[in-house]
Amino acid sequence: MSENVNRRDAMGMAFGAVAAVGGVFALGGMKRAWDPLPSVKAAGTTTVDTSTAEANVMYTEKWRGKPVFILKKTKEMVEKASPNEKARDVVINGEHFLVCIGLCTHLGCIPSYRPATEDFLCACHGAQYDQSAINTKAPAPLPMPIPPFKIDGTKIILGQAGPEYEKMKAAGVLGSKPLDPKA
Ligand code: FES
Repeated sequence: MSENVNRRDAMGMAFGAVAAVGGVFALGGMKRAWDPLPSVKAAGTTTVDTSTAEANVMYTEKWRGKPVFILKKTKEMVEKASPNEKARDVVINGEHFLVCIGLCTHLGCIPSYRPATEDFLCACHGAQYDQSAINTKAPAPLPMPIPPFKIDGTKIILGQAGPEYEKMKAAGVLGSKPLDPKA
């Protein structure tokens, strides 16, 4: 009996230790996924410095109460991107970034980025989005929208419409209408 109790205690401790280690890793992963880049907030704008951004790591900033995803693309991602995907890229010193409001266009959940497959999954009802946040699987009806932005050196000013944003608007790729991810 006491041997059983001891074995149970030992198992409990082992499980506790594994759970604790797992928890630390999970927290580490979560912190990384939600680490913001250096940013400054002022009167309706958020200025994000992209100079320390790592490729294929999703950063989330807050702008006017909404999550904004910032994803620096790898060279391979840029090479394999379709014209519509590329047209949504914010290009800073030759580096390509996705900048979009991180809310699912179905019912507003926050999708997760999956670095292994370089796409987004919304766990609420299974919608998927490609590397440029263009919807690829129902029930999302539209791409995740690109907020007004302006480029200033290595910085992105969210909330101000610069020439690059106006160009995307004229091209109709901001996310207010459906886009073919392959075209
Ligand atoms: S809210 Fe994202 S799939 Fe429904």
